[in-house]
Amino acid sequence: MCGIVGYIGQSDCKEILLHGLEKLEYRGYDSAGIAGIDHTGLHISKEKGRIADLRQIVVDSFHPFIGIGHTRWATHGAPSKKNAHPHQSSSKRFTLVHNGVIENYDLIKHSNLDHIHFISDTDTEVIVQLVEKYVEQGMYVEEAFRHSLKRLHGSYAIGLIDAQDSDTLYAAKNRSPLLVGLGDGFNVITSDAIAVLQITNQFLELKDQEVVILKKDRVIITDLYGEIQERKPFTTQLDPSDIDKGTYPHYMLKEIDEQPMVLRKIVQRYQDENGQLIIDREIREAMQKADRIYMIACGTSYHAGLVGKDYLEKFSGIPTEVHIASEFSYNLPLLSQNPLFILISQSGETADSRSVLVKVKEKGYPTLAITNVPDSTLSRESDCTLLLHAGPEIAVASTKAYTAQIAVLALLAVDTAIQKGLPLDFDIFSEFGKIATVMDGLIHNKEIIAKIALNYLQHTRNCFFIGRGLDYYVGLEGALKLKEISYIQCEGFAGGELKHGTIALIEEKTPVIVLVTQESVNLNIRGNAKEVAARGAHVCVIATENLTMDGDAYVLPKVYEPLSPLVSVIPLQLLAYYAALQRGCDVDKPRNLAKSVTVE
Ligand code: F6R
Repeated sequence: MCGIVGYIGQSDCKEILLHGLEKLEYRGYDSAGIAGIDHTGLHISKEKGRIADLRQIVVDSFHPFIGIGHTRWATHGAPSKKNAHPHQSSSKRFTLVHNGVIENYDLIKHSNLDHIHFISDTDTEVIVQLVEKYVEQGMYVEEAFRHSLKRLHGSYAIGLIDAQDSDTLYAAKNRSPLLVGLGDGFNVITSDAIAVLQITNQFLELKDQEVVILKKDRVIITDLYGEIQERKPFTTQLDPSDIDKGTYPHYMLKEIDEQPMVLRKIVQRYQDENGQLIIDREIREAMQKADRIYMIACGTSYHAGLVGKDYLEKFSGIPTEVHIASEFSYNLPLLSQNPLFILISQSGETADSRSVLVKVKEKGYPTLAITNVPDSTLSRESDCTLLLHAGPEIAVASTKAYTAQIAVLALLAVDTAIQKGLPLDFDIFSEFGKIATVMDGLIHNKEIIAKIALNYLQHTRNCFFIGRGLDYYVGLEGALKLKEISYIQCEGFAGGELKHGTIALIEEKTPVIVLVTQESVNLNIRGNAKEVAARGAHVCVIATENLTMDGDAYVLPKVYEPLSPLVSVIPLQLLAYYAALQRGCDVDKPRNLAKSVTVE
């Protein structure tokens, strides 16, 4: 969701900005723009649509040595050229890009800027107009910038340039991601390190309500009152090849294929040389103290949390609730005496989850983040973190992070059981080893799923996924995957619940994907499959080999049953992928969606 990149140095940075924006495309966007200063002055180009469209309008003769770029995911105002960033002050002296939401923009507009003619419908434009207003009142630019920021309520990552001073790039951050990248003779700002990885691997982390003054050879960080803040640089562990699509047609397919490798990496990272689990002492203590766990997440991460609840209750005996972050934040339920909050988030930047984190931290409750991104906001602000080690996930539809979340939640539950001396009848690492091999096989034979997609989904306008127990949770994820990238309307349902209303939607040929991996409910879900078949549904059963029957569409190898979601989700991810492909959809960048949802 919205991405920022900015550069100050000696070289022509046009390509650095455009390339950076391309690397930020995965976050989701609907318009983009760049602005910069070269020896002829300030130039600005912005366009609705893709970076490729923006490239068309950026003139060859433009060679900026300072510049800012932005991908916009519309919040205030429709996706359009007019609302695309960068935005300019009335005199065009100041040019600014912004990621986040300014909650009091309307108030500022009417109380401070009522004489200004606004060009766009965005909340962002008030920031750049405020800076100009304070400069006109006699403040230095830096002072005016800080003064403007103090007026803002909401989230922001900002890059600002001044047409009268090509030696300074201004930036600021509050609750939206922004990093400073350090180079030899240049410095950069970016929403994500991957956007500038080709020019630097040295970064400075910024805290909320910090302001940065970047020159080509130095960087000064202050708070909103101008107090200098010391910061040590860190070297990112990201490898440029991690974000390369290689020979794959889509990131999503690459990331589906990476799942066995990710599972093996999780084993490497969480197992010591004696075969024992490595979990921080702080996390173990928090798990021992907790009388109830509250898992907070959104979308796919929420679905992984549902599976994780099963593990935490069955293996480690801790009552667990799973909540959708955006609901929890404003409807806090009655909490137990000693709750532990686990925030599950691939990106670690999701605003809905962060909003819960802020609220529960205010109440003094312990927090644990399970995330893929080590320096992300959730990771930094939670008491402890468990990392997914899935590598960068670029496709908007999450795949490898989902299986990594389930694997890490299983490890946490098993570790807690071991610490409590509870009996376990399996060795998690050897089960993960077997599952990685099973995943390899499913991925190798993916063309079977391509045929199933053709057979069941090519012409449908809707689809249902049913299952019971863990299969229900995996069905929810299968339905989300399919709807978000193929735009087929689909829902996941608990098999037994269909007949209480939803079965009314079953018509001749409605596809119903049935998951059968749980022995204890095998007969029940088969019964539910018959109910929909009797009403004309086109039933596609995906069953484990020990539970399969004649006529099933796809057979899964048997694994340790509680861990079956790690396996059964793979055909569902592939089904979504092929259905989207067959319908000509943009698999990696589905419409209206953003990878990192940094607004509430
Ligand atoms: C779906 C998907 C989203 C995310 C959700 C939360 O494929 O990726 O549903 O899971 O937006 O994002 P994170 O996990 O980054 O908090």
